[in-house]
Amino acid sequence: MSATTTMGLGIATVRPCCRLLAAQLFPKCPRHHRVPFLRCPHHRMPFQKYPHHRRIWIRAAVAPATDPASARRLSTSADPLSGAGDKAFERIYVQGLGAVKPLVFERPEVVPEVPAAPAPEEVKEVAMEELKRREETESEKEAWRLLKRSVVSYCGSPVGTVAADDPAAGSQLNYDQVFIRDFVPSALAFLLKGETEIVRNFLLHTLQLQSWEKTVDCYSPGQGLMPASFKVRTVPLDGNNEAFEEVLDPDFGESAIGRVAPVDSGLWWIILLRAYGKITGDYALQERVDVQTGIKLILNLCLSDGFDMFPTLLVTDGSCMIDRRMGIHGHPLEIQALFYSALRCSREMITANDGSQNLIRAINNRLSALSFHIREYYWVDMKKINEIYRYKTEEYSQDATNKFNIYPDQIPSWLVDWIPEKGGYLIGNLQPAHMDFRFFSLGNLWAIVSSLTTPRQAEEVLNLIEEKWDDLMGNMPLKICYPALEYDEWRIITGSDPKNTPWSYHNGGSWPTLLWQFTLACIKMGRPELARKAIAVAEKRLLNDKWPEYYDTRTGRFIGKQSRLYQTWTIAGFLTSKMLLENPELASILTCEEDLELLEGCACSLSKSGRTKCSRRAAKSQILV
Ligand code: GLC
Repeated sequence: MSATTTMGLGIATVRPCCRLLAAQLFPKCPRHHRVPFLRCPHHRMPFQKYPHHRRIWIRAAVAPATDPASARRLSTSADPLSGAGDKAFERIYVQGLGAVKPLVFERPEVVPEVPAAPAPEEVKEVAMEELKRREETESEKEAWRLLKRSVVSYCGSPVGTVAADDPAAGSQLNYDQVFIRDFVPSALAFLLKGETEIVRNFLLHTLQLQSWEKTVDCYSPGQGLMPASFKVRTVPLDGNNEAFEEVLDPDFGESAIGRVAPVDSGLWWIILLRAYGKITGDYALQERVDVQTGIKLILNLCLSDGFDMFPTLLVTDGSCMIDRRMGIHGHPLEIQALFYSALRCSREMITANDGSQNLIRAINNRLSALSFHIREYYWVDMKKINEIYRYKTEEYSQDATNKFNIYPDQIPSWLVDWIPEKGGYLIGNLQPAHMDFRFFSLGNLWAIVSSLTTPRQAEEVLNLIEEKWDDLMGNMPLKICYPALEYDEWRIITGSDPKNTPWSYHNGGSWPTLLWQFTLACIKMGRPELARKAIAVAEKRLLNDKWPEYYDTRTGRFIGKQSRLYQTWTIAGFLTSKMLLENPELASILTCEEDLELLEGCACSLSKSGRTKCSRRAAKSQILV
C-alpha cells in the first residue's frame, strides 16, 4: 500500500476524528464515560495529562513511505489492536501534508497504572461544581447581576448580551446590539457556570444570519460573512399594527461607522462552537448539517484564492476588535491568530466524507504555512531586531535574508530602548517593506492560546509582558496596543481621529476585557500568578468605576474619554478570568496544543527546494525555534 493510497483512504473514512476513531478502535476506557483516551495525533493533550491513557499511542512517521511491506508490518505490530488489524489501520486519518508515511502503531509503552487520574469529563464536572459552590467577591456578585441584566431575548429565549447597558447614557449608537466578538466572554462566563442555553441559541441564530441577503451599496459580500452585531426588533406583522413579531436585524458592516468588514466574527463563532462542544459534551450541535455548512462557508471565504503571496489573511483596516482606522490593514496579527485558531478548531469539528476531503487538506496546508510564516517573520526579540538593524536591502533572489525588503531605518526609536534583553513578541503586521512594530495584545495572547507561537515564543511573550508590566498593565490591564501613535503619525495613520487620540481608545488605551485572554494564555503557559496579579489590579477599580469599556492615559489612570460604562465584555471578561483561574483545567476548552505534524508539513515543503531536511526533528529545529 503506498503512502498516497493510505492517505486517500484515511481522509475519506475517518472524520469526525478522535471520538469516532477511538470508539472504532478501542474498547471503552472502563474509568470513563466517553472515550477520551485516544486522540488523533493532533490532539496530544490527553496523553500528557492522563498518563494511564498512554498504553497505546500512534504517531505519523516522518519519512515518505516507500516500502509498502514495512508499512504493513508496522501497521499490524501493535498487539492491543489485534482484531482491528489493517482494516483499522486504513481508517486512520493521515493529514495531507506532503508525503507522509502511514500511521504507525508502536508497541505498547508500558506505563504503570496511575491510580486516581480522573477523566477530563470528571475533571470538568468537578470543576464546574466547585465554581458553583465558591464564595463570590462583591465585585463578582455585582458583575453577575449586570451580566444577567444585559441578556437579550428573542421570541422568549436568551440569544446574547448587549454590548453595553448604561441606563444613564444618552445615545446608545450600536451599543444596544449583540456583538459577536463581545459575546464571546459572556458566553464563556455562562458556559463555565453551566448555563448553556443562551450560547446554543446564539450559535444557531447567528448561523441563520450568515446566509442573510446582504448588500452594501449594490455590492454583496461573500455568503459566509458573519455580522458584526445584531439587534432584536419588533415589527408589525403583515403590515398590521395590532400584531407584532420579533425579527433579528444583523449589521454586516453596512451601517457600522466606517463600513468596516467584521472579518473576526466568523472566526470567533467557530472558536466558540468548539468551546461549547467541549464543555457541554453536546457534539451533536457541531455535527448538524446546517452547522457544518456554516463552518464551511466561513472557511471558503477565508481560504479562497486571490492575489496573495502570503498565507496570512489579507484584510482592510478595522476588521477586528480595532474597528476603526488604525493602520492595521494588510495582515494584522489579531486576524492571523484568530484565523489560525479557527482553522484548528474547524479541523476538529468538520465531519470527514468525500465532500470535505479537499477542505481538510486545504486547512492542513494553510495551517502549516501560516504557522511557519508567523513564527519566522513576525517574531522579534533583541537578537532579531539587531539582525534587522544590520539588514542589507534590495536583495533579489530566492535566498534573500531580508525577504520583505525592510529598511533598517524603520526600526522605531521607541523600540530600540524598549525591547528587553529577556522576552520577545509578534509584531502587529508585515507587508512588503513594512513591519508594524507595535505590540498588539490580543494577537499575541491568542497566538499563545492557539499555539500559533512556538512554546518558547509563548514563554517569551509572557516574559516581555512581565518585564514591561508598567507599560502594558499599569493602573488597568491591558493595553490594546503599545505604544500610541502620536503627532504626525496619529494625524496620518488614524486620519486625525478624535476618538483615537494618543493613549486613548484603540490608540494605546487600556481594555479590561482583554484580561480573559491574558488569563487563558497565562494558564496555558503555567504562569497563573501573572494573571492573578493583573486581575487584582483590575478588581480594585472596576466595580467603583462602573465597569468602563476602556481607560485612557499612558498608564491607564483615567476612565476613557468616551468610554461606555457597564460595558458587558468588561464585566464578562472579569468573571471569565476569575472562573478560569479558579479552575484552570477548564481553559482547555479554548486552547490548542502544539501540533508537530503541521510543522513537518512545512519542513517537508521547504525541503523540496532543498533548503531543509524533511523530518520532525528538522521541523522542530527550524520552525519550533
Ligand atoms: C467598539 C470596539 C469593538 C466592540 C464594540 C462594541 O466599537 O472597538 O471592538 O465590538 O465597541 O463593544
